[in-house]
Amino acid sequence: MGNNNSSSKHKSKKIEFYKEIDNKPMDLEVEKELKYYIPNNYEDIDRLHMFHFFQRYLFQGNYSSPIEEGLMRGKYKVLDIGCGPGTWLLDLANKYEKSVFYGLDNNSVHPNEATDMFDGLPFPDDNFDFVHQDPMSFIIKADQWNFIISEMIRVTKPGGYVEILDIYFTLRGAGPILSKIYEAHNTSCLQRGVDMKIIPNLDKIIQSNQNTQIVYRDEKSYILGPNGGKVGMIKQDIFIGYHDNEVATENLSPFLGISKEEYKIMITKDLIEELKYTSPEFLLIRFWAKKN
Ligand SMILES: C[S@@+](CC[C@H](N)C(=O)[O-])C[C@H]1O[C@@H](n2cnc3c(N)ncnc32)[C@H](O)[C@@H]1O
Repeated sequence: MGNNNSSSKHKSKKIEFYKEIDNKPMDLEVEKELKYYIPNNYEDIDRLHMFHFFQRYLFQGNYSSPIEEGLMRGKYKVLDIGCGPGTWLLDLANKYEKSVFYGLDNNSVHPNEATDMFDGLPFPDDNFDFVHQDPMSFIIKADQWNFIISEMIRVTKPGGYVEILDIYFTLRGAGPILSKIYEAHNTSCLQRGVDMKIIPNLDKIIQSNQNTQIVYRDEKSYILGPNGGKVGMIKQDIFIGYHDNEVATENLSPFLGISKEEYKIMITKDLIEELKYTSPEFLLIRFWAKKN
């Protein structure tokens, strides 16, 4: 797994920071050279794996853009921004053996390999056939979306596709505990300049770029918790795991005006109890556009 053939084609200094994945069996030499970025925390990685299979199941596929033929034909160049442990990339690389896959992430076990998308994507213009991004709604600030999207479009070849997947909570069907947690999360995001309400309108930002005026949208809804069936239970595990970690506890308990211990009980007991009697609706939305 991993080779440097394509890397050597690019003279950009930062190119060595990306990992390229193909389907060759991994040998020790290659393994040493593999530039592989993973979050440091194994629970985060598990959650990202679970989320990957969750989104794939909901959409019945890993992407919505019409790229299957290109991927099958081969030499199709794919970039995943915020690739994390590379779950999405590896899933595609396994299926489309003749295409090439790149990922970048600012979170790395080796700090000198991390790449921050907010510095711009260190690739030449018109470089990839498909540029993809998984949920970043809690990360990208309101005034950064334009820049990130324009960078995605810049590095996409004319005729290639950009695609963004994100999560949106409609607030429909939520009980008081989930509403409070959401409100605290929302307030903490807004303090950092992150506005999750932008998500359902990302198509407008993509459309405002003169190279991607027609934007498509693919939306799936699900219910969080047991009333959403198996899908709802899987998402409940992901949701609880995300909110039960140290960072979330530290951040959100002051916004809720409760102690860390009370917060833990709220997430791991009270919320789980409430979800048995409520049906909160969330959306997964994919936006995709072809570059002129
Ligand atoms: C939802 S996860 C993506 C999961 C991944 N696509 C997968 O298949 O497992 C979002 C990722 O964005 C990364 N990220 C956050 N801020 C970033 C930044 N400024 N530049 C690059 N990556 C970033 C995080 O480290 C995290 O791995």
